[in-house]
Amino acid sequence: MTNLPNGNGRTPGSRLRSQRWFGGDDINGFNHRAWLKPNGFSDEALRDRPVIGICNTWSELVGCNIHLRGLAEAVKRGVLQAGGLPLEFPVLSLSETLMKPNAMLYRNLAAMDVESMIKSHPLDAVVLLSSCDKTTPAVLMGAASANIPTILVTGGPQLAGHFRGAPVGSGTDFWHYSYEVRLGRMSIEEYREFEESLCRSVGHCMEMATAMSMAVCGEALGLTLPDGASIPAVDSRRSVLAERSGRRAVELAVEGTRPSDILTREAFENAIRVLMGVGGSTNAVVHLLAIAGRLGVDLSLADFAAASDIPVLANLKPSGDHLLDSFFYAGGVPALMAEMREVLHLDLPTVTGKSVGETISGRSSDDTDVIRRIDDPVFPWSGIAVLRGSLAPDGAVVKRSAASPALFRHRGPALAFETVEDLAEQLDDPDLDVTPDSVIVLKNGGPVGGPGMPEWGHIPVPGKLRAAGVEDMVRVSDARISGGSHGLMIVHVAPEAAVGGPIGAVETGDMIDVDVHAGRLELEVEAREIERRLDARPPHEPAYRRGWEALYLQHVLQADTGCDLDILRARDDEPPTDHPRGLLEGWVLGD
Ligand code: FES
Repeated sequence: MTNLPNGNGRTPGSRLRSQRWFGGDDINGFNHRAWLKPNGFSDEALRDRPVIGICNTWSELVGCNIHLRGLAEAVKRGVLQAGGLPLEFPVLSLSETLMKPNAMLYRNLAAMDVESMIKSHPLDAVVLLSSCDKTTPAVLMGAASANIPTILVTGGPQLAGHFRGAPVGSGTDFWHYSYEVRLGRMSIEEYREFEESLCRSVGHCMEMATAMSMAVCGEALGLTLPDGASIPAVDSRRSVLAERSGRRAVELAVEGTRPSDILTREAFENAIRVLMGVGGSTNAVVHLLAIAGRLGVDLSLADFAAASDIPVLANLKPSGDHLLDSFFYAGGVPALMAEMREVLHLDLPTVTGKSVGETISGRSSDDTDVIRRIDDPVFPWSGIAVLRGSLAPDGAVVKRSAASPALFRHRGPALAFETVEDLAEQLDDPDLDVTPDSVIVLKNGGPVGGPGMPEWGHIPVPGKLRAAGVEDMVRVSDARISGGSHGLMIVHVAPEAAVGGPIGAVETGDMIDVDVHAGRLELEVEAREIERRLDARPPHEPAYRRGWEALYLQHVLQADTGCDLDILRARDDEPPTDHPRGLLEGWVLGD
């Protein structure tokens, strides 16, 4: 512990932000301290002592975050051990499965909650507790904007599911058995048995899906202690990590290391490369762009395209064979980063107080089937590819590590659907005019059209093709997919149909040309005809007229810039606001 203030009362000249609230003996200091006394705090507890916020996305409505109350207690232990004062507070939590119409519609709202709670309270540092898919990007976006010292603790993966003698995951296997039921090859009774077998413990999904991808990005960005992403939720080492994170938060408060010191452009380049190396979720592309936008870091889809030669080293579902407990036993993120150290920036700072290179020093894969050597990858190319072309002028993405390579080069006729309802109604129609060469196109699933950019991009293979043994085909949409999705699904097409993107002009029978490795996505229709069709489309009717959702629709940006609200991205002309102005301040004292 370096230069920890001794909590000895008056604090003239204290560097701690919290002392602007608690440090004086005027009416403001009285007011701020007195109304915390119901907590039972002594005067000494509040004087010149780092105050550490524990920003908790715990909620009984979010099963993946249900254990975060327990982790908060471990963080508090660490804060107290290091001489700080922990103050836990709740923020909006987002359940990927329960929240309707979709959790992504509320990610930015949660991020605003986090930012506002941190900025407006007497906190010197904050420990972020998150787990489910959208909760980690939301807390990171909010904390990036608040920009006080921050450390991330994620919930860790669930134990692997176990069904009929085999480990099962919440992405690949969930979709597989759901298809089996749809095709009448599995009974509802068996499906229920699978349901009972899948989520066996607390924690987030146990595949390299979105929650884990974001936890991995948090660690690769330098915002967690080593192994922060991969220790299983039920492993006692996760509580140890939480306790150490609490201790470290006190040190960060004194050192003054802020997110903007750590989240540099090079740190995002590391996160992108690690995301590619683990075969991570396409959703992480949107989230990383949004986090970078909060700090004014110039990041774009081109930076993801530039990492297209990073090989996939993690042999994890949905791209590979294993589940996340195996990833931890093989060495987790530090081992993976050590294996790919030649392509990482090693001299960057992290919340550990050490550089990236020092943090991963001495680590290597303990199981080279799960975390491969860089010269023996699972795939020789990155997990995610960026596509552009006349169908997606501002870009689209595809998780090629979880798709059939036979489809990487494909030209076929479009089978276009205006809405997800149309698609759902027709998909299993035995008379549907579809072949394995068809390219299914779903419109109106984007940030505005969805709204919220739901995971409708996971378009099932039509029933009659699936029954004939077709496992994969090309699907294109302006929506997103689940991080656990498997198949050649080109998503995040920008601009989306609802704001006039060319995907809105696609008609059934148009030819679409895809080249995944070359990054091309072309609609073979004359530009003038595309324009004519777009002009003839009725204007998009907003789905909401009031409330948060209406505000979201007025301000949301497209997928290629992260789907944040335009008013939440960093601005050069933003005046400094980190100042506790209150009702009483002008009355008695200036500052
Ligand atoms: Fe919460 Fe997968 S549903 S992490």
